Amino acid sequence: MSARHFLSLMDCTFQELQSLIRRGIELKDLRNRGVVFEPLKNRVLGMLFEKASTRTRLSFEAGMIQLGGQAIFLSPRDTQLGRGEPIGDAAIVMSRMLDGMMIRTFAHSTLTTFAAHSRVPVINGLSDDLHPCQLLADMQTFVEQRGSIAGKTVAWIGDGNNVCNSYIEAAVQFDFQLRVACPEGFEPNPVFVERAAGRLSIVRDPREAVAGAHLVSTDVWTSMGQEQEADQRLALFHPYQVTRALLDQAAPEVLFMHCLPAHRGEEISLDLLDDPRAVAWDQAENRLHVQKALLEFLIDPAYQHA
Ligand code: CP
Ligand code: NVA
Repeated sequence: MSARHFLSLMDCTFQELQSLIRRGIELKDLRNRGVVFEPLKNRVLGMLFEKASTRTRLSFEAGMIQLGGQAIFLSPRDTQLGRGEPIGDAAIVMSRMLDGMMIRTFAHSTLTTFAAHSRVPVINGLSDDLHPCQLLADMQTFVEQRGSIAGKTVAWIGDGNNVCNSYIEAAVQFDFQLRVACPEGFEPNPVFVERAAGRLSIVRDPREAVAGAHLVSTDVWTSMGQEQEADQRLALFHPYQVTRALLDQAAPEVLFMHCLPAHRGEEISLDLLDDPRAVAWDQAENRLHVQKALLEFLIDPAYQHA
């Protein structure tokens, strides 16, 4: 049987995504109660990072250790990948030694190529196209604090980037309306826009996107790999800063999310993460819990048959 991968939210059914979130909430509760739960004893996750990371590395590594397993950090700098070993060859070899692989990369095709040659599950820890693990954490955070997101309105402010593309997939899977406010030329990738099936609108004015929204989310204006565009982006995105005053246009019970790292004074005002509507720290913590649910789902064979 070929391995099950998680490269995109579309690799799961809505029911599976819902179970992952429910399980993330359960695993969080177990950890808060000090219960030791180690279904992944002797299991090893490889983690290949072509880009920097704080949350993704820590949450997968800590998550594997808490589940009784281990994680190994790999980078192109200190593997033969940096010296030109083909990714397909690396996938064949690595997947004979590991029980799962997490990859943070530039081109999404690195993930699909690895997955095509891998005997074990491959998880997308962020590519230029998508960041599905972030959306699992965001959805868990919304469900914990506000209940189901179905039928709600979500506003994405700023760059139509990888996290935005995963919001589009989340809108399809979790059945919410997504309004993206971005400057001209920074719309999300048309491939994902086409998949949105009437759940997406793209506007220029952030106030129009935020009006009555139940969730407002943003991200950096310059993603990893776009550093040479930073100055141009800073000028163009200036009208898209999320402030307390902008959030005041949303529904009274709105939540504000940021996947982090944040640049205070750029995509958010200096004080926004201190606003009671901001839940970025809970969101970051939930990366740990919901990814433990994902690791259990993909790697623990007992769980597959449960
Ligand atoms: N949000 C997120 O993925 O953070 P890192 O880049 O620190 O992993
Ligand atoms: N869009 C950002 C997300 C970082 C977690 C990037 O790709 O750099």
